[in-house]
Amino acid sequence: MEKKFVLVREAYNNAYAKYSNFKVGAVVVLKDGEYIIGSNVENASFGLTNCAERSALFAAYSCGYRKEDILELVVIANTPNPVSPCGACRQVISELMEENALVTMTNLKGDVKTLKVKELLPFCFVEGDLNAE
Ligand code: THU
Repeated sequence: MEKKFVLVREAYNNAYAKYSNFKVGAVVVLKDGEYIIGSNVENASFGLTNCAERSALFAAYSCGYRKEDILELVVIANTPNPVSPCGACRQVISELMEENALVTMTNLKGDVKTLKVKELLPFCFVEGDLNAE
């Protein structure tokens, strides 16, 4: 199995999903050959939960990586079809990854679907909109 799929399953197993029991794993694949994993981390105050995609991307940025360093984001859950990032994560993905970078969605059965960031959230809110008069 490709390393990114091994690691995304490791992230899935690390998920702290004690309220929903819905585990999600993610891995950021970097151009320098490194990988950074993230899991969903829930909280008794439900709204404080962090999705796996954001955990992984925030960890990558915390390590000093930026959008130009990222090749791909891979996400996994135990879903009938490849798991799709939520709306909030799509907004974050759109800012923290390049528009032509890849988002690979998969599931425990091994189904895989890959889209570009710009296909996942077209017409997204962007930094430039903040400066519009
Ligand atoms: N979750 C993710 O980690 N990523 C998504 O894209 C969808 C939802 C998590 C949040 C929560 O811990 C659980 O899945 C159920 O919504």
